[in-house]
Amino acid sequence: MNDTKNFIWGTATASYQIEGAYDQDGKGPSVWDTFANQKGNILNDDNGNTACDFYNLWPEDIQLLKNYDIPNFRFSMAWPRLIPEGTGAVNQQGIDFYNNVIDALLEKEITPWVTMYHWDLPQALQDKGGWTNRNVLKWFEEYATLLHEKFGDRVKNWMILNEPNVHAWFGHCLGFHAPGLSDKRSYMAATHHQNLVIGQTARQFKSLNPDYYVGSCYQLVPIRSVNIPQDHPTLIRADQLWNRNFTDPLFKGSYPGEFQKEIEEKFGLIHDGDKELMQAPLDFVGIQHYNPIYMTENKDFHYDVFFGDLPENCPTTDYDWPIDPDGLEECLLNFKKDYGDIDLVITESGAAFFDKVIDGKCDDTRRIDYLKGAIGATKSAISKGVNIKGYFVWSFLDNFEWADGYKYRFGMVHIDYENSCKRTPKCSIKWFQELINEGAECLKTS
Ligand code: GAL
Repeated sequence: MNDTKNFIWGTATASYQIEGAYDQDGKGPSVWDTFANQKGNILNDDNGNTACDFYNLWPEDIQLLKNYDIPNFRFSMAWPRLIPEGTGAVNQQGIDFYNNVIDALLEKEITPWVTMYHWDLPQALQDKGGWTNRNVLKWFEEYATLLHEKFGDRVKNWMILNEPNVHAWFGHCLGFHAPGLSDKRSYMAATHHQNLVIGQTARQFKSLNPDYYVGSCYQLVPIRSVNIPQDHPTLIRADQLWNRNFTDPLFKGSYPGEFQKEIEEKFGLIHDGDKELMQAPLDFVGIQHYNPIYMTENKDFHYDVFFGDLPENCPTTDYDWPIDPDGLEECLLNFKKDYGDIDLVITESGAAFFDKVIDGKCDDTRRIDYLKGAIGATKSAISKGVNIKGYFVWSFLDNFEWADGYKYRFGMVHIDYENSCKRTPKCSIKWFQELINEGAECLKTS
């Protein structure tokens, strides 16, 4: 029988998507503050200035986590709230805020899982080139040291970066996300420097405290297509762009296919020792997965690849993302096959629907069905020997969904943005509570 007793159940969030308070109490601007406040970048010109106002409403939210018996809470720290200029002076009010959140969680016996960086780089560092500048290694070391010194006495579970792959592709190659760059060198530099930062910070944290449980999160997806065959060079390249430019450096210290040459010879980004540094001694890999991705050839985009059509009659969420739990199982099985037996924690899994509160109730049965499918896929992968330690639902609250603003709702708690961010727990959080309280019976394979 597999060990399900200690399975880690939780919900996940990210600073820019929930905190708001974009300039409150000494916080400096992030690249997302800049990008989202420029007209035309975000659907309906939404921005994260207020978001869910978690910065001010956190006591209510932590009480909600407690009311629904959620034992683990993933959130990220906003670098510019702690070090407004990215390096140098520390903002004590930012430290106080996260101290209050951590202490309130622990007091309610909820374990904090902290993402060090979920895309909100201090704008002051972007002005110096951000992730395209190799100095980001020094900047990040200073920031990570502060996290250890201020919070390491109470936080044991750390995730270094959130989805370096989406951050590099959407933010530095397609230009859909902050900082809005769109050129191959920026993509490659952001990719390589993030891979190095993961290696550097994993070593730093494990030497500062061997008891830390240190991971980093990747959005991993099977790449599919309805109009070109699976072995087509475009799909192989898409798989490298999305997945293997991040997982190969981590486990093999090299880039797949043509990318090794591009990064090394064309852009000259590899220095002595990088091969070793990229192979981060992580305790776990955070797997984030929503759906398989359908891609096709498209010469309008760098590397001639872009999103393509879905199969006919493919069931989708309201975000038009395919609903296909086999995609999650496939990516878990492939991960084990390609990279071995490291601990895996599913740090994001969830779905967006246009949920409405009617007579005080928010019935999100379709989210429950989606989660049942994803947890079923997790169980199946466990039964085939994949070492999965936990599952976090994305997301706890409806929130600011990057380039798509507030239109799509991922939360197990509804936010009424028109009405002081009033919280209404949806049916899914009650369902999740029951599942947690069954003691992971749902994962038992014999
Ligand atoms: C991930 C990201 C989250 C969230 C989610 C749903 O890529 O880490 O911040 O937005 O997707 O789109």
